[in-house]
Amino acid sequence: MYVCLCKGVTDRAIRQAVSDGARSWREVREQTGCADQCGKCAGMGKSITRDTIARE
Ligand code: FES
Repeated sequence: MYVCLCKGVTDRAIRQAVSDGARSWREVREQTGCADQCGKCAGMGKSITRDTIARE
């Protein structure tokens, strides 16, 4: 599923970023580019990031 339409970032890409070592929403943003444009995806991106980190 696309989380960020502006940058074409999927929930899978966010999970991958966490499994590649991202430990915060800021780091996920740096790795994926998520929320770099309109920012509408920030809430969902952040929540997927938190969930994924909590599961690891
Ligand atoms: Fe992610 Fe616009 S949908 S920056």
